[in-house]
Parts: sequence; C-alpha cells; structure tokens
Amino acid sequence: MVKVGILGVGTVGRSVARILIENGDIIEARAGRRIVPVIGAVRNLDKKRDVDIALTDNPADVVDNEDVDIVVELMGGVEEPYRWVGRALKNGKAVVTANKALLAYHRYELQELAGDTPLFYEASVAGGIPVIGALRNGLSANHIESIEGIMNGTCNYMLTRMIKEGAAYEDVLAEAQSLGYAEADPTFDVGGFDAAHKLLILGSIAYGIDAKPEDIVIEGIENITQTDVEFAREFGYEIKLLAIAKRNEKGVEMRVHATMIPQESMIAKVDGVMNAVSVMGDRVGETLFYGPGAGGDATASAVIADIVEIVRGNSGPMLGYKKGLESGLKLLGKDEIVSQYYLKLKVEDKPGVLAAVSSKLGDFGISIESMLQKPSRVEGKVRLLFTTHLCEEKKITMAMEELSRLDVVDEKISMIRIEK
Ligand code: HSE
Repeated sequence: MVKVGILGVGTVGRSVARILIENGDIIEARAGRRIVPVIGAVRNLDKKRDVDIALTDNPADVVDNEDVDIVVELMGGVEEPYRWVGRALKNGKAVVTANKALLAYHRYELQELAGDTPLFYEASVAGGIPVIGALRNGLSANHIESIEGIMNGTCNYMLTRMIKEGAAYEDVLAEAQSLGYAEADPTFDVGGFDAAHKLLILGSIAYGIDAKPEDIVIEGIENITQTDVEFAREFGYEIKLLAIAKRNEKGVEMRVHATMIPQESMIAKVDGVMNAVSVMGDRVGETLFYGPGAGGDATASAVIADIVEIVRGNSGPMLGYKKGLESGLKLLGKDEIVSQYYLKLKVEDKPGVLAAVSSKLGDFGISIESMLQKPSRVEGKVRLLFTTHLCEEKKITMAMEELSRLDVVDEKISMIRIEK
C-alpha cells in the first residue's frame, strides 16, 4: 500500500482524497498498488472539510511522517511550500505539486533538490489537461516552435460570460470563485499572473528558459471593455487572455495578455472554464490540448495521474532534461516582441485629424492594416480604430506616447495585441 499525505485540503485537496478513495479500484489496477490518502495538513482545523482522512494543522506531521510515501503539495503561496517541499524531498519522499506560483519562482532549485527523487507537477498547468506530460514526454523529439493558449480558466469563464451574456465583471468573478476556479487571491487570475506562472513552467520544459514572472510581459483582462469586444468582432476577431511563448531567430518571446484572435480559429471557440494549449513542434506540426483548466476534480485528476506515475516507478529529471537543452537560446526583452496591434483612440471630429494620426504612425514605420472611424458618445469626438501590420512593440509604445501628446487626441489610447 502507498500512503499519501496532503498539504492543503481545500477544493483540490479534498477532491484528491475523495477520488483516491472512490476510484480506488481503477487507480490500483493502473498503478499496480493500492494508494491511500492518510493525512492532510490544514491551516484551520475548525473549518468543516467533509473528507475522510486525519487532519493536522502542522505540515511537519505530513512531511516528516514515516508512514507517508508521497507528499501532495496544494497549499498555495511560494516560500512556505518551497520549505515544506524541500523538507519532504530531503526526507526522501516523492512529491506532487499543483502549485504553479511555487514553480514559477523555484523550479530550477527544486529540480536540483529533487535529484532522482520524483517531483511531478502535471496539475500546475491547465488543470486537468495532460499538457506537461505531452511536452515533457510525447513531444520530446521536437524543437518547440511555439506554445500558445488559454491557460486561466477563471479569465476565460469571465470573458465568456461577460461577452456572450453581458454579465457584470464583479458578478462573474464572484461566480468563478464560488465554483472553485479562482486563486485564493483572484488578482492572480484577472491580472494574468497565474497564466504567466504556467507559461514559465512550459517555457522551461520546451526551451530551458530560466525566467521569473517579472522578466516577461504580464497583462490581465481588467481593462477589456464591451466596446473593445464589439470592435474586435467588426475586424473578425475574438478577445481571449492568451499565454504565448514563441521562438524566432533572435530568441524566445514570452508574454501573457488579452489578445485578438481570428474568430474562426479553434482557440477562439474555447469558452467557459475550458483551457486550450496549442504546441507547435518542428517535426510533429501543430498539436492542440483542450480540457477543463480549473476546478477540484479536474485538477485532482492530474494530481492523481502523477501519483500513479510515481507508484509505477517513473521519474526522470523534473523539467525533462538535465543540461544543454537549446543552449544559447535566450528570452527576448519586452521591447523586442513583434506583433500586430489594435489601437483605439478618441479624437476631435475635425479636418486633418485622421491624417495627423496616420502620419504619426508612419513616422514610426508602423504600417496600417485596416482602419475604422466610429461615432463617439461624446459630442464633437469620434473613435479611430486601427489594426497594424507586424511591428516591434517598442515602436508601438513610442507612437502611443507621442499620439497621446497631440491636442486633438484624448490621452487614453487602448492597445490590444493581435495573433493570427
Ligand atoms: N485559478 C486557476 C484558473 C486554477 O482559473 O485557471 C487552475 O490553475
């Protein structure tokens, strides 16, 4: 019998314990041994958990427990779980974690600490979708050209409800929280940080890039308005929060932001809590992974798959390689991003304004792909909407700064990146 201890018995921890018990027979058949949850550590012992395992409020009772073979870390946070996971590994226990924030900051140290002891983390990216296994194992023959996708279920749920039903931001956020999708601090979801943590993990497996969240562009969905969505549709796009890692001849771009994507693309049709990750390999071509990106049972399904792998005796280096993966490949700076852009400006409705704006874009070498002029609710003003051809981000940033200084242009200019 294999005994499992759980650090953090919240939405996912409770599902892990329950599924191990309720699906015990099929899991035993697949793993070759019975796997039993024996103890869970929680912060507050008074809170009702509705789970049939012993509880403690001291994580040491789990990580130092001689009866526990595998520690599952679901406590959230960064430094505290880092200490407990390190201690569990030092005690020779295999570890499974779903904690993407922990891995976003400490994945390379953890790989060192783990050595040959299994440390698995399938549930840390895209909930129930086995995308880490795919990238780490199934696609290991390939140079990875790009990874692009919807990696935050909360944001996708919110955008879908807001766009399709006109629901209010605060209401849909509260719903996502009550459904167990959102992080303990939902700013991580709506601000793009959770998706960025996941992207950094995938970026390490695919490219060996050792970056921290502060090294990459991270924007959320807070500033997306119904007007942006409507205009996006006029240009033939949907708006999704995408996490993108892409290589070019200079290096790897990594970024998370609201993105306009063609309405007919598969990812544009991914709604609700569903995630979808497209991985392009140089040999396999495009592969697409789709499924529930958050929620107790979906995430627990990935946690348990890792436990089964460990019980079967599989391990290998945590990030899928030891040394020398894509050596010399570097993370490109935020200014080096190359994209197409959508710009929305409010301007005075008088002769010469459109010419002034387009000539400013021209000054920066920005080529306009399409343009719309729409009435504004404010008397004497109109909205100008542009999409550009590919250009470097630093040119757009400088052009926006200069445009906002023109007397005829309102200060606030909206920009959304476009991916095709
Ligand atoms: N809060 C995360 C999400 C949970 O909404 O995707 C899964 O990582």
